[in-house]
Amino acid sequence: MNDKIFPSQFFWGCATSAHQIEGGLINDWSQWEKSDMRLADLAKKQQDPLDFISGIAANSYIENNADINCLTELNNNAYRFSVDWSRIEPEEGQFNQEALEYYRDFIIKLKAQGIEPFVTLWHWPLPLWLSAKGGWENQEIVNYFKKFVAKTVTYLNTEVNFWITLNEPMVYASQSYLVGEWPPQKKNPLLMYRVINNLITAHQESYKILKTIDSNNQVGVAKHNMYFEAAPGFINKILKRLADWWWNFRFLNKINKQQDFIGLNYYFHNYINYGFSKQFSYNKKSDLDWGLHPEGINFVLQDLKKYNKPIYITENGLADHGDQHRAWYIEEILKNVHEAIGAGVPVKGYFHWSLIDNFEWAEGFKPRFGLYEVNFGTYERVARNSAIFYADICKNNRI
Ligand code: BGC
Repeated sequence: MNDKIFPSQFFWGCATSAHQIEGGLINDWSQWEKSDMRLADLAKKQQDPLDFISGIAANSYIENNADINCLTELNNNAYRFSVDWSRIEPEEGQFNQEALEYYRDFIIKLKAQGIEPFVTLWHWPLPLWLSAKGGWENQEIVNYFKKFVAKTVTYLNTEVNFWITLNEPMVYASQSYLVGEWPPQKKNPLLMYRVINNLITAHQESYKILKTIDSNNQVGVAKHNMYFEAAPGFINKILKRLADWWWNFRFLNKINKQQDFIGLNYYFHNYINYGFSKQFSYNKKSDLDWGLHPEGINFVLQDLKKYNKPIYITENGLADHGDQHRAWYIEEILKNVHEAIGAGVPVKGYFHWSLIDNFEWAEGFKPRFGLYEVNFGTYERVARNSAIFYADICKNNRI
């Protein structure tokens, strides 16, 4: 038998975020989805705007029992999801008690099923009153974030041990302030730099709050790291060093004293050949044309070993409408994770992105990341074959 057994008490889970599944949110993203700028852009591409408006998303705010059923069917013992800032603080300083109670009830239901909650405090959208003040460009946001964190964590603390302050800060800063694709669609490297600094400070400050509320709280960020592979040549080696420093390590280095674990979101291999993202021949690609490179996660994990902290793979997955590659990809990823664990990397959990089909930011509803297919007419969740495959792994703690 060459079964690969995972460490005992390994967390097997799935991940989602509020804006992508809950529905009914009013925040800067939902506003942007309907803005003239956005609609004009979609019209140019001859796209139906309805496919790009989150609306009721996967209706999870109402159907959260259905999501919990999926998690139990998957034999998951952990679930990563986010609370939505605009739901909790729709107006500056006015906290919505009902929203806080909703999240607490949801968490209590999860725990009744033996599912450990990993709560993300910020997974990208902002309340409208805060985006009107400049969002992450304005350093005042750090104070607003602190207040939001204090309120939310005080309320949920008795039920939650694992907190993720920020989701993929580098991705957000680049897409929203450099590439200009996501709201507020700016292309300004200096602003991006400022946004990153504010995100760093927000994490550092909220870490202190989380620890003051309860010193047992385990706190980290979900960090998007890529495997930068350099083609032969001195210049390529230098480019790899630069990319690793800027994209993979700088943020983690800055918050190193304020994190109890590292959350890794792994999606990409990036081939460096006198430039980034150069042509590379992938055997398999996702529906979004992302080259699937499961070996990369082993390298990324080995590089995180130096931090000497527990590592949770807080996201990993692919858009695969026909479920052609998902089971294969999960298995290959997990083989590589297992190898990294064997080499001494302290990986303590894996969360697949995503539990259910959801709203994929700029790409709308077309990309299907779910282990469960969502029927966007009836909101029924149906297990794809890969869900059954994953459920078996989670049950047996082995591949
Ligand atoms: C994000 C998710 C997103 C996923 C797939 C991650 O970068 O955290 O919100 O849906 O990738 O693109």
